[in-house]
Amino acid sequence: MPEHIAIIMDGNGRWAKEKGESRIVGHYEGVVSVRDIVEGCGELNIKYLTLYAFSTENWNRPKVEVDALMELLVSTIRKEADHLKRNNVRLQVIGNMDDLPEICKIEMQEGIDLTADCTGLTLILALSYSSKWEILEAVKAIAAEVKAGSLDINNIDEALFARHLTTANYPDPELLIRTSGECRISNFLLYQIAYAELYFTEVHWPDFRKVHLYEAIKDYQLRERRFGKTSEQLI
Ligand code: IPE
Ligand code: IPE
Ligand code: MG
Repeated sequence: MPEHIAIIMDGNGRWAKEKGESRIVGHYEGVVSVRDIVEGCGELNIKYLTLYAFSTENWNRPKVEVDALMELLVSTIRKEADHLKRNNVRLQVIGNMDDLPEICKIEMQEGIDLTADCTGLTLILALSYSSKWEILEAVKAIAAEVKAGSLDINNIDEALFARHLTTANYPDPELLIRTSGECRISNFLLYQIAYAELYFTEVHWPDFRKVHLYEAIKDYQLRERRFGKTSEQLI
């Protein structure tokens, strides 16, 4: 079983278009999938689930869509926070929170505080997140420490770098799922997925349910994870 699953939740807009609805309807339906997959991961005792909810690049979408997504975020956290706590789910967020509207920041922080002591699944929402942003922030922080004299350049190693990423407190995902048929990473967790197994499915996010999660996990379990070694060395 993977300890950490990351999902690029894609295809809300196309799902809605196929039904003759506006893209926003797809985003609302996507919340139903989030609920189901969070529950499914909890049932499977998966420790971490990271969901790509809004990328840095998504700020370039039409204002009506961005506003609707921010509203949906606020109303969902408001509605679901108690439910998460009851289910022992700890809410966390990665991304550039400074970009988010004030009300989003407040709601997110309340959800994080409310569930801080939960010990089951850790649900990490990537909001206004992009991997290049994250890596540059880490580089700047490390450079500042070197400049201040508190860090020796020779002590910069993979572990130190990882501690400067927004994901410092979580293990790297072993399995990355992307829905709706696109086979790209779209600036998500570039450093952390160095050795993740990638799984792409045609299913649009609003149709994605536990059964699809199980299919992805079964596929993952058939992979041989060699980490550079030969098959023979793994026996
Ligand atoms: C994913 O669905 C949700 C976000 C990126 C916020 P999309 O909105 O990207 O849906 P498609 O890819 O256009 O169908
Ligand atoms: C990636 O999906 C971001 C999220 C799922 C939040 P996009 O739909 O924005 O990605 P591209 O633009 O198709 O690569
Ligand atoms: Mg998309």
